[in-house]
Amino acid sequence: MAIDLGTLAALGTRVEWHESLDSTNDRARELAAEKRGMAHGFVVGTEEQTAGRGRKGARWITEPGRGLAFSVIVTPTWKKERWGWLSLAAGLAICQCLEGNELAPEIKWPNDVLLEGKKVCGILIEAVGEVAVIGIGLNVNERRFPEDVPAISLYQVLGLESSREALMLGVWSALMELIQLEPPQIAEEAWRRLAWRDGEIETTRPVLRGRIRGFGPNGELSVETADQLLQISEADGVRPSGGGRGR
Ligand code: BTN
Repeated sequence: MAIDLGTLAALGTRVEWHESLDSTNDRARELAAEKRGMAHGFVVGTEEQTAGRGRKGARWITEPGRGLAFSVIVTPTWKKERWGWLSLAAGLAICQCLEGNELAPEIKWPNDVLLEGKKVCGILIEAVGEVAVIGIGLNVNERRFPEDVPAISLYQVLGLESSREALMLGVWSALMELIQLEPPQIAEEAWRRLAWRDGEIETTRPVLRGRIRGFGPNGELSVETADQLLQISEADGVRPSGGGRGR
C-alpha cells in the first residue's frame, strides 16, 4: 500500500517523501549541507531505494510499498566524540515505538534492532559536519525474506499489516525526544533492551569472547574478557557465544 501523505502533514514542512531515490541518507546529506544546521528534525523518506546503503558498504534492500526507509537530520547537542550514542538513541526510539505496538524488540549493539532474535531494523548514522543523518530501514509489511537472510518483519510477527507512516512518525517523535537527553539516560534505557546483556558473546572483528557489562562513555560496548574489560567501538558479527541466547 502507498504511504498516506496526509498522515505526514504532522511533520509540516519538515518532510520530503519520494517514489524512488538512490538512498535517503544521500539525499538527507545533500539537504543537511544545503540547510547548514537549519534542518534539525527534517525527514527524507522513499518508497524505493535503488542504492540503499548499510554499514561497511553493505547494500540495504527495501521492498517498495512494504518496507520503510527514511533518514532524519539532527543537530545533536552532544560533543562529537559522544555521537556513538546516536545509534543507541535511534535503536531505543525504534524499540519504544515497537513496544507501543505490543512487540518486544531488543537492541543489538551497535546499530540493529531484533525481534524474536532476527533483524527487524538497521541503522546507518553519517556525519555531515556538525549535523548527523540517521538512516533507518525497518521491515514492516514484508511477507518473507530469502532463507539465508536472518531478517523478520512486523507483519511476520503480528500477522497483520502496520501503517508505515504511523511507525515513521512514532520513531521520529521518540528520537527527537531522546536526543534531548544526556547519554547516561540513554544508557539506562538502552541497557534494559540490550540483546545478550550480561551474557557471553563473541565477535568476529575483532575476534573476542566475553561478557557484556555495559556501555563505555561514548556508547562503546563494555566487554569483560578472560583477562580485561574492553570497550569496543566497532565490531562485526556480535552474537551469543556458542550460538545460544547468551543470557
Ligand atoms: C545496516 O543494517 O547496515 C544499516 C541499514 C540502514 C538502512 C537505511 S534505509 C534508510 C537509509 N538510507 C540508506 O541508504 N540506508 C539507511
